[in-house]
Amino acid sequence: MNIDLRLLFSDDAEVMRENAIRAMSKFALKKGIISFSGGMPNPETFPIEAISRFAQEILQEEGANALQYGLTLGHTKLIEALCKFMERRQVFGVAPENIIITNGSAQGIDLVGRLFLNPGDAVLFELPSYIGAILSYANFRATLVGVACDEHGVSLEDLKNKIRGLRHEGKPIKLMYTIPNFQNPSGVTLQWERRQPLLDILADEGVLLVEDDPYGEIYFQGVDPASLIPIKAFDKDHNVIYLGTFSKLLAAGLRGAWAVAHPDIIRKMELAKQVGDICGSSLDQRIIYRCLRDNLIDRHVPVIRKFYEARCQAMLAALEKHFPEGTRWNRPRGGLFVLVTLPEGMDSEALLKMALDEYNVSFVSGKPFFVDGQGANTIRLAYSKETAGNIEEGIRRLGELIKKHLCTPHPPLKPAAAR
Ligand SMILES: Cc1ncc(COP(=O)(O)O)c(C=O)c1O
Repeated sequence: MNIDLRLLFSDDAEVMRENAIRAMSKFALKKGIISFSGGMPNPETFPIEAISRFAQEILQEEGANALQYGLTLGHTKLIEALCKFMERRQVFGVAPENIIITNGSAQGIDLVGRLFLNPGDAVLFELPSYIGAILSYANFRATLVGVACDEHGVSLEDLKNKIRGLRHEGKPIKLMYTIPNFQNPSGVTLQWERRQPLLDILADEGVLLVEDDPYGEIYFQGVDPASLIPIKAFDKDHNVIYLGTFSKLLAAGLRGAWAVAHPDIIRKMELAKQVGDICGSSLDQRIIYRCLRDNLIDRHVPVIRKFYEARCQAMLAALEKHFPEGTRWNRPRGGLFVLVTLPEGMDSEALLKMALDEYNVSFVSGKPFFVDGQGANTIRLAYSKETAGNIEEGIRRLGELIKKHLCTPHPPLKPAAAR
């Protein structure tokens, strides 16, 4: 007799939803498609030769140790090197007991949720925010509350209003999740002047800040790196859980990332990780350690910045040329993403279907990035994967599709409100 799985799935399993970006990744493989969907780093930026050399050296020098289970907290030498690495971002005084290595910052986000969230607890999110964090905290059945953002990042006024509202309802507020630099999906950077006040507001309310910073090193010419200093650098009282990753700086498949937090938090993350995956890859962590030890990162990151800046310029130029009046977008100064806002009433999900079927172009529709259900008329474009030529062609095709629907007297795209 077949077991009816629906009777067995836990409440947690029932609420799990698919990540719209991962769902889109199968289309990125479609032959000939121009893909603006995956926020993946471009594989051309992976330092394959150095990684291969390091892997050989490690296996020769350390043998089976490098293939054995490692410590749950992570490879000790890598943790020590990361204490130093944080100084390059102006975060001083980080000790080994403040760090745990995670399998991607995705795991860091999830472990933090496991530690702090009971069903119904409130988590504050930027509008829009990273879909992986939204889904993770939704899985813990947290109440996700959106805070308005402008071109300088999160609105401190709206943050105070949202906190006041939640307090009024008697909801416990546990966390705020933020991506301060070249945000995914909006490309926006939190203004330097707002960083300390943001921390102060949250500290006064007893709310921890989860600072996810995968793009802080990927800035373009003319940007002052001092304006990208993590909020963690202002954090004297351990109210910030900082998440860093090598996915965009070295190679995403190494799954090398780390969290910096109060030792009590790190200890609990270790316990949660012990049952989750025991430890990360011993070999990969050793490779990353050598990338730091031999200053490969210092040599490699400027190359990556140039690589993405050229693609970003190509996308911005193509948008200017091909997108019709009534559409608007931000001009990122780093990172991998542009968020386009289409005229009110246009539904980007319906547009996406046509883009895929008729124009062989993919993007991610913006709605899943907004925890308050807005954003149906937004689209996220990643400029990381395609060449400048393909970017021009893909944006030309998308522009044509949008213009076609703007010119139709009764737009066939369903208005968001009617859905
Ligand atoms: C904001 C943000 N956080 C976390 C991640 C996941 O990164 P990792 O590969 O380190 O798990 C991504 C990946 O795109 C991201 O954009």
